[in-house]
Amino acid sequence: MAKKRILSGMRPTGPLHLGNLHGALANWNKMQEEYECFFFIADWHALTSDYESTGSIQAYSMDVFLDWLSVGLSPEKCTLFVQSHIKEHAELFLLLSMITPLPWLERNPTYKEQIAELKNKDLSTFGFLGYPVLQAADIIMYKANGVPVGIDQAPHVELTREIARRFNHFYGDIFPIPETILTETPKILGLDRRKMSKSYGNAIFLSDPPKEVRNKVGQMITDPQRARRTDPGNPDVCNVFSFHQMYSDQETTQRANDECRKAEIGCVECKKMMAEFLITVLEPIHEKRAYYEANPDTLRAVIEDGDLRAGAVARETMAEVREAVKI
Ligand code: TRP
Ligand code: SF4
Repeated sequence: MAKKRILSGMRPTGPLHLGNLHGALANWNKMQEEYECFFFIADWHALTSDYESTGSIQAYSMDVFLDWLSVGLSPEKCTLFVQSHIKEHAELFLLLSMITPLPWLERNPTYKEQIAELKNKDLSTFGFLGYPVLQAADIIMYKANGVPVGIDQAPHVELTREIARRFNHFYGDIFPIPETILTETPKILGLDRRKMSKSYGNAIFLSDPPKEVRNKVGQMITDPQRARRTDPGNPDVCNVFSFHQMYSDQETTQRANDECRKAEIGCVECKKMMAEFLITVLEPIHEKRAYYEANPDTLRAVIEDGDLRAGAVARETMAEVREAVKI
């Protein structure tokens, strides 16, 4: 049996952080071993909300691509590409827009949420309303069977399923109906104990150099009840301790656990120990990134190769689609 085909994308909104590493990236890394995977940079989607200032989209796209390679997504195992390089997405988006009823888009929960949340941006555009239609085009272009996404994106995959069914109903059975594969994301908290997020300014980025990691770990909020060095602390409620559990060796984690409760270790020292382990975990990631940064031609070749493979599939699909639509 042919391998199941998996597709997912990320908007290039900035460098990726530890939350992304343990969520989407860990998941994609596993999936590339088992499935035929397509992962792409959704740069057109970034335009839907950032159309006024597009200056960073290209640089962010490269950043995210580098992050992908540095954490182990392999161009040999999966197809990594850039959405805007495959113009067929725009054509399929247009055709799907003809058959997508407006109310489906207007009642999309993420649409309503975003409009309410991002008050400083004018999102009452055609493009923003059509965001899920473009996403549907991305997905069905590759006849994906599964789409790994976080819970926030589940409504978009649901809409994709409805749009694909409608297309098949009008024009013939061309597209498989893709399944949502919910990514389980261990909740990684940021420096301030809120969910780690670029927009909160509380993230540790995969590309942060050791000095920056030490500095950020130094700012992490610990057990809020522990006011003085002489107070015993409670690792169970301390985010630094959660990081120990993820990154430090067992001995160090045990030590932090015991000594914190007896006030035998201060938070400054405890953080320093953890930071060094985190830096060690990031080291191989930085090495890979440095390799591609030093060899921009190799990076360019990787992207071109991914575009080529994605483009071949997209052209095939569009030939079928045009014939079915009779246009
Ligand atoms: N909307 C997704 C996000 O913001 C990105 C995306 C665009 C996507 N097209 C996709 C994800 C297709 C999965 C499949 O995260
Ligand atoms: Fe957290 Fe370590 Fe401080 Fe205890 S000693 S509160 S585990 S940072």
